[in-house]
Amino acid sequence: MAFQILLLRLSIILFSISGVYSVNFIIKNNCRIPIWPGALTGAGNPISTTGFKLLPGSTTTTTVDASSTPWSGRFWARTLCSAANGKFTCATADCGSGQIACNGAGATPPATLVEFTIAANRGQDFFDISLVDGFNLPVSITPIGGSSGCKSVACGRSVNPVCPPEMAVKSPRGLVIACKSACMAFNKPEYCCSGDHNLPETCPPTNYSRIFKRQCPQAYSYAYDDKTSTFTCTGGANYAITFCP
Ligand SMILES: *[C@@H]1O[C@H](CO)[C@@H](O)[C@H](O)[C@H]1NC(C)=O
Repeated sequence: MAFQILLLRLSIILFSISGVYSVNFIIKNNCRIPIWPGALTGAGNPISTTGFKLLPGSTTTTTVDASSTPWSGRFWARTLCSAANGKFTCATADCGSGQIACNGAGATPPATLVEFTIAANRGQDFFDISLVDGFNLPVSITPIGGSSGCKSVACGRSVNPVCPPEMAVKSPRGLVIACKSACMAFNKPEYCCSGDHNLPETCPPTNYSRIFKRQCPQAYSYAYDDKTSTFTCTGGANYAITFCP
């Protein structure tokens, strides 16, 4: 009898182990400068870290549990960060937490965003690179494993060198370190896809969004840029996210 109970307990433990589905995001800094990646969970279980420092050439893996609930969230990378009077801030993509951890805060634009919706239990994931909130660093997403659809996508060319002056964010030394979206720079409905322009039919690409699209054809260049900017992967992949691929 005791033996049967033991067997039952053992099988319950084995079942719960095999029922765990964790997705790893393997984040690499291929840039020549340090970066401080940030992560924000939109829905689902909390991610293992919301912010950390990554030196050039190094990699950190973050994990989410998507066993029974889907996970959605985003990643970005902060640059030119420092701490003064106990407060941590960054020149680009700051999350405003005052710390290296973002603790549930998102990136202050302009920031290149990497967005995921991970299906529960190895279903169909969706992912994209978004420049809707502007650009700060090039990035790529590479599914590792998975069974169908799973292709690598990149925003491999920097927008900063071609950023129009009226949208450029500059360092104190005058280098362009990020590029605002036209929506952020000019706050007009035709650039923000708001007001009379809040439908795909009434918010076409603009001369400004085309600058982003030319550099990064696989990334969202404005809000309704879905057709060429959303990617899927089925079957439970992990994902490598490389800044400055
Ligand atoms: C984009 O179009 C607007 C309005 O037509 C114009 O004022 C602006 O100079 C153009 N900018 C670029 C970078 O082509």
